[in-house]
Amino acid sequence: MTFVSSSPQGIVTTTPGTDATWWRQAVVYQIYPRSFADSNGDGVGDLNGITSRADYLQALGVDAVWLSPFYPSALADGGYDVDDYRDVDPMLGTLEDFDRMVAALHARGIKVIVDIVPNHTSNRHAWFRQALAAGRGSDARERYIFREGRGPDGAEPPTDWLSVFGGPAWTRVGDGQWYLHLFAPEQPDLNWNRPDVREDFLVTLRFWADRGVDGFRVDVAHGCAKDMSEPLPTRAELTQGWQGPHPYEDRDEVHEIYASWRQVFNSYDPPRFAVAEAHVPAHRRPRYASAEGLGQAFNFDLLQAPWDAAGFHQVITDNLTLAKESGSSSTWVLSNHDTTRHATRYGLIGADGKAPGGQDGKAWMVAGADPADLYRELGLRRGLAATALILALPGSTYVYQGEELGLHQVTDIPDEARQDPAFHRTPGVEVGRDGCRVPLPWTAVGPSFGFGDASAHLPQPADFARHAVATQWPDPESPLGIYRQLIRTRRALITEEEALTWLPSAPGVLHFARPGGWHCVTNFGVTSCPLPAGRLLTSTRPIEDGLLPANTTVWLQLDSDQRS
Ligand code: NOJ
Repeated sequence: MTFVSSSPQGIVTTTPGTDATWWRQAVVYQIYPRSFADSNGDGVGDLNGITSRADYLQALGVDAVWLSPFYPSALADGGYDVDDYRDVDPMLGTLEDFDRMVAALHARGIKVIVDIVPNHTSNRHAWFRQALAAGRGSDARERYIFREGRGPDGAEPPTDWLSVFGGPAWTRVGDGQWYLHLFAPEQPDLNWNRPDVREDFLVTLRFWADRGVDGFRVDVAHGCAKDMSEPLPTRAELTQGWQGPHPYEDRDEVHEIYASWRQVFNSYDPPRFAVAEAHVPAHRRPRYASAEGLGQAFNFDLLQAPWDAAGFHQVITDNLTLAKESGSSSTWVLSNHDTTRHATRYGLIGADGKAPGGQDGKAWMVAGADPADLYRELGLRRGLAATALILALPGSTYVYQGEELGLHQVTDIPDEARQDPAFHRTPGVEVGRDGCRVPLPWTAVGPSFGFGDASAHLPQPADFARHAVATQWPDPESPLGIYRQLIRTRRALITEEEALTWLPSAPGVLHFARPGGWHCVTNFGVTSCPLPAGRLLTSTRPIEDGLLPANTTVWLQLDSDQRS
């Protein structure tokens, strides 16, 4: 398959910004490497697979890619259980493959962001092996959070805290001590009070920055700093009106860590970029996003927002205000590797039997959700309209692989094929995140729809043929055609001025203008609505008789606005 450059003239255009500020309004494409492209026919995506699709990424028009972890890992949590932070998993390639991939992407003007997982290592990491071997009271155990248990013989965990994936947050080791893992037991939490832990991560950041990496996505950024002094509070105490700093979430000291990372980032020219995955209350986000800290923080508010004009308006205004507070730019995310795909969220039927337009990201992850309850076409229309809306906003947009193909959450993965610890640790309750991590379809035929020469590591549904890149590439009205058009148009329109002006609109409609005098109008309603007179720049569905159809976004240059 040959891909044509996204610029009509074949000229490489870039989103405005200097070498140091390229990220402020970038379109960042998230790659989940094991599910993107498999170059060696083992059913698992790899780095050479990414390199082989560099032309596709360029033609799509993205400014950067963010790679979820590709480090050596036993995959207890999709690679977020890292054995060695400075190597590549042999299933995915080698460091030389990594260098080739970076060169191929850079040659096409695409920046590279890697994922750093500082809250926990894997239980196969050399430090954890040493901690187990060295025994209680040893220096090696101090790199993690080991405690004695409660009750007779210490047989009960130190606290009743639960892990994010279900089950206790503590696991007992052979000699009777317990270690803390806020995620899976294979992900022991590090003790960030240890200078050697701090120093080692600085070495890791330099290792990748020296290899040409442009930025870092920081996993569980709110979790590293902990106060584990006794007595530890109970789960009930923490959830019911807990006052003061939390023992392991969003503690102020965490920012000392990122201040030292910032020094490393700023020692490069251009400075390296970072974005925090910080699940904290909105008003706490600006510190993570500050210029002295990581520099940008994810806002996941739209992952939870229903398809509703007032809700979107609120999220947008709140986050633009927060971005001003931090001096950073805002981030917009509709889908990622942890959440039900947005085309599916917006197509879920409501309890009242109507399609209300979205439920939170967890809805489809609960066992028993019925595929018959999904309005696929409606969800996709809304999904495209939401994407067009966020691509018109100031700030950076994060696109998750496969959303440009209009992929839905895969809902019928057999239990025995499921990989997510959230499924295995909550039997019968949560189905987990595998449904958004199914390998991409590149062609309509083949053992894994062009993903590779073998069946994929997660089963792909038959309708992937319809969604394949090759199927959609020639069709400008396909989801892929619409994404390409939107990203291309955005590049031509966007200026460095990160401003937005709301304009009056009918209920259920959002209308704003951007510097340069272009406008974005989204109809969240169920019927068509009048459209201001103007020149059509792009639209997620055809305009009918001058009316904006329901579930559609349009970008316009207004007749009444001569600023262009
Ligand atoms: C957030 C990541 O996005 C998710 O996939 C992972 O399971 C947890 N952090 C733990 O690392």
